[in-house]
Amino acid sequence: MTDSNLPEKNLGEENSGGLKKRNKQKKSKEDAWKLDGPKDPFAMLDALPEEKQQEIQRALHLFSLGKGLPRTLEEASRRPYPFWDTQPVPKLGDDNATTHGPIEVDKVSVREEPYSLPQGFSWAPLDLGDPLRELCALLNENYMEEDDNTSRFDFSPEYLLWALCPPGWLPQWHCGVKVNGNQKLVGFIAAVPTNIRIYDTEKRMAQVHFLCVHKKLRSKRMTPVLIREVTRRVNLQGVYQAVYTASGVLPKPVATCRYWHRSLNPRKLIEVNFPISSLRGNMTVQRALKLNRLLEAPKTAGLRPMTRGDVKGVHMLLQGYLNKYHLAPVLSQEEVEHWLLPRENVIDTYVVESSAGVLTDFVSFYTMVSRVLNHPVHKGLKAAHSLYCVSSSTPLPDLMEDTLFLAKSKGFDVFTVLDLMENTSFLEKLKFGIGDKSLHYYLYNWRCPTIGLKMKIGFTKNIFKAIWIEV
Ligand SMILES: CC(C)(COP(=O)(O)OP(=O)(O)OC[C@H]1O[C@@H](n2cnc3c(N)ncnc32)[C@H](O)[C@@H]1OP(=O)(O)O)[C@@H](O)C(=O)NCCC(=O)NCCS
Repeated sequence: MTDSNLPEKNLGEENSGGLKKRNKQKKSKEDAWKLDGPKDPFAMLDALPEEKQQEIQRALHLFSLGKGLPRTLEEASRRPYPFWDTQPVPKLGDDNATTHGPIEVDKVSVREEPYSLPQGFSWAPLDLGDPLRELCALLNENYMEEDDNTSRFDFSPEYLLWALCPPGWLPQWHCGVKVNGNQKLVGFIAAVPTNIRIYDTEKRMAQVHFLCVHKKLRSKRMTPVLIREVTRRVNLQGVYQAVYTASGVLPKPVATCRYWHRSLNPRKLIEVNFPISSLRGNMTVQRALKLNRLLEAPKTAGLRPMTRGDVKGVHMLLQGYLNKYHLAPVLSQEEVEHWLLPRENVIDTYVVESSAGVLTDFVSFYTMVSRVLNHPVHKGLKAAHSLYCVSSSTPLPDLMEDTLFLAKSKGFDVFTVLDLMENTSFLEKLKFGIGDKSLHYYLYNWRCPTIGLKMKIGFTKNIFKAIWIEV
């Protein structure tokens, strides 16, 4: 497709029916992915110094003019979803399902050719070499963590390789969009395969993540094309369901959780204005330091870093634990090794070994580093995100208290969990504060009852972006 003034269908949004025709005139102008040009507001914005851009972004945020996805179901119910309404996902207004199964039957034939891109853009495989330089550049410049642009994730190549290349990963499921002229990566979406048990059904699914569009190409409908293309590539492998998460509301969350944070470095979190309830209000640094004091040493006997020799034991503990949830990943030993075996600055796992040499418990957390923007002193923030905390012997709050100590001693500033699985049993006790963000979970092409009760949900963000519902 070579016309830069493309109608929407040429961007791959073929199936949105009459609504698209009505908007054709307007969208044909909006949707061309012009990179720059004298009247392009993105180009004008980009021409400003970074500090100025951030000032404008903060002001937009303040006056709620930023576009983004709605944050609440109520807000979402007041807006249309022209793209998502064409997709096999439950509508926001649908009654809660009582049945389980695919929304759309498996396709007999899957489109062979990739979705069209506007002139000047091409699909490109991800270059896993050079150590993932181009993906790091795209994500680290454009994947904003906070809406007011005060911080950005700082993904390392090691982290991305870990997240993008689990056992069974397929290079064609990493979809990049590049500018032909300079080969710059400006759009990305990835899927990795994973086995999920949904209530009583086990399914091979795609776990979709790292959706990112360059900030100069926002609001030009690149996202629907990326989603259609990754779906096509996933379908070509005979996989028709996916699981994904977002902090905004799309049609229609199967569950919603809230982030909670435990301060490990209160002074720094206060100084960078980290959004956590327990450090807000009239909290002084002195009081925060006193309140967030940690153990001087772990108290659980037999607690030590996981080694390769523990993979079998950890796999058994984890699968046994996940059996009590309705929806869970079904992991092989190889996957447990990939996701949980410690890797410096990526993933930490500690096991508890009894005096009889039996593994009884384990905890794991992964590393998320952010860049703090425009701060005179602090440049980065290191967060530990809880992955699994499985205990058959040590009380969970005790295990987590030790984990906080370990995270602090490894230089983390904050420990983040979602209020799911059994996490609510220690949140208050261990002085976690509620964060300002939710995480919504979605299933593509699968209808099942919504998980309304948070206490009944066991989620782990990031790797297994799937849902674990307690039986
Ligand atoms: C998320 C992001 C790719 C959206 O890009 P955009 O330019 O605002 O949106 P586009 O014009 O390309 O597409 C709009 C469509 O994408 C949908 N969309 C937006 N964000 C989405 C998300 N995170 N997941 C799925 N769909 C999303 C919108 O609902 C809209 O569809 P609709 O017409 O049915 O409402 C972009 O804001 C971005 O790169 N953000 C930083 C990284 C990030 O937050 N990624 C998401 C992690 S969950």
